[in-house]
Amino acid sequence: MEKVFRNYNDIDVNAAVREHYRKMRERQTFEYVQRMHRKYLKFNKPMDLWEAMDHLNDLIDVSDPDLDLPNVQHLIQSAEAIRSDNRPDWMQLVGLIHDLGKVMFLWGSDEDGTSQNEQWGMVGDVFVVGCALPESCVYPEFNKLNPDMSDSRYNSELGIYEEHCGLDNLTLAWGHDEYLYQVLKHHKDNLIPEAGMVMIRYHSFYPWHSGGSYTSLLCAKDKEYLNWIRDFNKYDLYTKCNKIYDLNEIKDYYLPIANKYLGTGPIFW
Ligand SMILES: [Fe+2]
Ligand SMILES: [Fe+2]
Repeated sequence: MEKVFRNYNDIDVNAAVREHYRKMRERQTFEYVQRMHRKYLKFNKPMDLWEAMDHLNDLIDVSDPDLDLPNVQHLIQSAEAIRSDNRPDWMQLVGLIHDLGKVMFLWGSDEDGTSQNEQWGMVGDVFVVGCALPESCVYPEFNKLNPDMSDSRYNSELGIYEEHCGLDNLTLAWGHDEYLYQVLKHHKDNLIPEAGMVMIRYHSFYPWHSGGSYTSLLCAKDKEYLNWIRDFNKYDLYTKCNKIYDLNEIKDYYLPIANKYLGTGPIFW
């Protein structure tokens, strides 16, 4: 039988995944996201890329119904699939690092949802905060639990945003995508092309890239973003398998690519 991905109806996997999304929908408010930006976007903790990769050996993403392996395995699987399709070296690197923002669990907390035990501020499909939640969110029945949905500033179609202001002007639920994007944007040696940075920043934004929501907020440029994301997403999603790689073995191949696009010094988290 062909494997079905992102099946949220499997009872076993699902109690935990569903509970994760209930907390995420309930607690990721506009105010919470502002607070997380102030708290986590400090860029004052130096750590080598490979050390960060190593730390993801200790983390299993609770929001992912398809994978129960340490997150670093998913990163290597994505990168290897991109490599075997002979895609550009920078895209292979993006596959390898796209979930690295999850290292925030090292300095995260249960109350922020950024820990091993509480991951609702770190992983899972994200949505826009500051405007109405769309029905395309996974478990849309949880939308009404979000306090912003009974706040007239935030619960209309446009909310706090201007019509067609574009993706880059929206604030998304706090998580690993935005964290890594901001860390790399502030990294002085970053040469990852724009398409790669977009893949990093928006890969968890399913209600937009797969659900087709938020059309009144998008601008012309976002059509290009959508092509990039859809191209990347097949490697993020369909490469999940149980093959185990050794980080040290694949490092020989990826190290020169990482050095080319990110330099050789530490990254400031
Ligand atoms: Fe991710
Ligand atoms: Fe991923």
